Amino acid sequence: MKLDIRPETAAEIPAIYELHELAFGQDNESRLINKLRDSEHFIPELSVVAYAGEYLVGHILLTRLPLQGNDGQTYETLALAPMAVTPALHQMGIGGQLIRHALKTAADMGFESVIVLGHPEYYPRFGFAPASKFGIRTAYEVPDAAFMAIELAPGALAGKSGEVVYPNEFEAVA
Ligand SMILES: CC(C)(COP(=O)(O)OP(=O)(O)OC[C@H]1O[C@@H](n2cnc3c(N)ncnc32)[C@H](O)[C@@H]1OP(=O)(O)O)[C@@H](O)C(=O)NCCC(=O)NCCS
Repeated sequence: MKLDIRPETAAEIPAIYELHELAFGQDNESRLINKLRDSEHFIPELSVVAYAGEYLVGHILLTRLPLQGNDGQTYETLALAPMAVTPALHQMGIGGQLIRHALKTAADMGFESVIVLGHPEYYPRFGFAPASKFGIRTAYEVPDAAFMAIELAPGALAGKSGEVVYPNEFEAVA
């Protein structure tokens, strides 16, 4: 499907809220987005919308995520969360286009890696692997296969094993 994919604008904030509410069947993720948008973790270029013609059909958000290295240093990675596609248009590759676009934008901006907590059947096709492969942990109790990471540059996570610390805003969906 031909899509127009670009950063969100302020006028789209209510439509993004409604899109996630529809896709998830609850508003936890929508509220998370609004909280993250008001936080220091937000990166305007990495809140990305997809349009099919005049219709908003998808949205993905990447935000700053601190990584406390086992070596005592704090590194920065990105959290992919949440993403949603209009339910009537699932399985048409919109989610895939959004992910690839967001990962490329993040790489172009100089970000080195992305973490996602999500469907283990979905994200590996984009290059995500269990974060445990890089020695990266989270305090959240989640299945190993659902907590994934991708390097945006080869070897970017080498020597950066440790724990990602999800900002308090994520408690809204916990
Ligand atoms: C996940 C989501 C964004 C995918 O969007 P999409 O445009 O349908 O994705 P694509 O067309 O690129 O890919 C479709 C694939 O996603 C997989 N997928 C979708 N939902 C899934 C789920 N809940 N669990 C596992 N895989 C899922 C489909 O099985 C399909 O795989 P296939 O190609 O092997 O059949 C969309 O289903 C959605 O909005 N879901 C509700 C919100 C959500 O779960 N967001 C992700 C949170 S981690």
